[in-house]
Amino acid sequence: MEFSIKSGSPEKQRTACIIVGIHEPRKLSAAAKSIDAASKKALSNLIRRGDIEGKIGQSLLLHNVPGMLCDRVLLVGCGRERDLDELQYCKIIENSIKALNTTGSSDAVSYLSELNVKGRDHNWKISLGVETINHVLYQFKEFKSKNKRPRKTLKKFILTVPSRRELTSGDQAAKIAVSVSKGVKLSRDLGNRPANICTPTHLATQAQQLAKTYKSLKVKVLEEAAMKKLEMNSLLSVSQGSAEPAKLIVMEHNGGKKNAKPIVLVGKGVTFDTGGISIKPSPAMDEMKYDMCGAASVIGTMCAIADMGLALNVVGVVPAVENMPSSTATKPGDIFTTMSGQTIEVLNTDAEGRLILCDALTYSERFNPEAVVDIATLTGACVMALGSHATGLLSNHNPLAKDLLHAGETSCDRAWQLPLWDEYQQQLDSPFADFANIGGREAGTITAACFLSRFAKKFHWAHLDIAGTAWNSGKNKCATGRPVPLLTRFLLDRAG
Ligand code: BES
Ligand code: MN
Ligand code: ZN
Repeated sequence: MEFSIKSGSPEKQRTACIIVGIHEPRKLSAAAKSIDAASKKALSNLIRRGDIEGKIGQSLLLHNVPGMLCDRVLLVGCGRERDLDELQYCKIIENSIKALNTTGSSDAVSYLSELNVKGRDHNWKISLGVETINHVLYQFKEFKSKNKRPRKTLKKFILTVPSRRELTSGDQAAKIAVSVSKGVKLSRDLGNRPANICTPTHLATQAQQLAKTYKSLKVKVLEEAAMKKLEMNSLLSVSQGSAEPAKLIVMEHNGGKKNAKPIVLVGKGVTFDTGGISIKPSPAMDEMKYDMCGAASVIGTMCAIADMGLALNVVGVVPAVENMPSSTATKPGDIFTTMSGQTIEVLNTDAEGRLILCDALTYSERFNPEAVVDIATLTGACVMALGSHATGLLSNHNPLAKDLLHAGETSCDRAWQLPLWDEYQQQLDSPFADFANIGGREAGTITAACFLSRFAKKFHWAHLDIAGTAWNSGKNKCATGRPVPLLTRFLLDRAG
């Protein structure tokens, strides 16, 4: 889809569909008022008859509106004007696209980007508008044998700004949002692919493919032999039961000053998590194909920032493995020496994410990072604590945590901080090794982060637990692409 920014009144637009808002109770938005004036009160007459109240979720399609050059006018419920916040704005955009999609319009001009959202400017409304539209239109059809095409599809979408003054910055905001959307789409595609296709090798190939598209990106893939040399025994202990070879994917985007310290993103890439010998129960085990969504978010974010040519140095590190039970798999009680030299007693082979992340964190030291952020579908406990609305955030550096929380608010991809207090560390005590890979039933998300913190002592570090936010379950099962919007916003803010 092609996006552009325009200013000008609705009655002058030659398009298949004009989209305007109606507030509750039966109140015309500014753009609706100008249509009303041009059409000799067509809208106020219709509203007086009670056809649309303005509640969020309502919409009404009109044809042949007098005084207009467009084929249709779509009225969209926007709720009470005073209550309009960020999430409602996105919901309104979502509703408008779903309604528009039933009309067969191939292009549209939307005035919803001129609604008043508390504390947000035009650029924000355009960015979130573009990202939300792309999000709603996303479909994953790679494995459907028949290609059912709708008779007409939306090709061109215009978002409006109130005057010519906002055109340049609006264009810029739309461009950035298109890059973010590309990253989100890539991340969702990788997540949705089944584990027999999306293997560690597939992730590596996809990363290398990106390096061919963007010249700011350099990609290197470490094979098992190289990891063995680096003594990444913890990472390798997870993949030793699988026929699929492990890969360590390293992606570098050099957009900043030559010697500027990079931000390092580390993404959990377990392409399928059976649990290993500590095998998971069968129900919903298919969803463990999504256990590489942290990796997908790193690859997606690298794609987004390369696409926008971000002026910042960023490194993506993806440890990619498959966690299987077999005669060569790790057994509960096995002990391994990590790349850091610390030893781990593997009491549960299903707590494998931390086992690959710890070596990837130690590996990250070589980049002399400004900060390291890891992203992982790490604990079921996080889903219990925060559900599917917020990503869990834990950090050893509060300013970094604050920046990430703020980026989440701005991008409507929110995170919520949990404590990383020393009191929790003792839950990892082991009689045989330096520590164990599980910390008991209590505070599972925090003890997982405590484990990681032991490999993040040399830099500012934050951990994002996306177990609840990376995909939706149920009949609309689908990867969400989270937290690519949060991460790209965080990096955009850093680049200034
Ligand atoms: N990938 C899972 C976490 C997970 C489970 C994410 C369900 C989303 C939905 C992770 O590898 C895992 O199995 N974690 C265990 C840790 C436990 C053994 C300490 C868990 O959460 O049960
Ligand atoms: Mn697991
Ligand atoms: Zn896992």
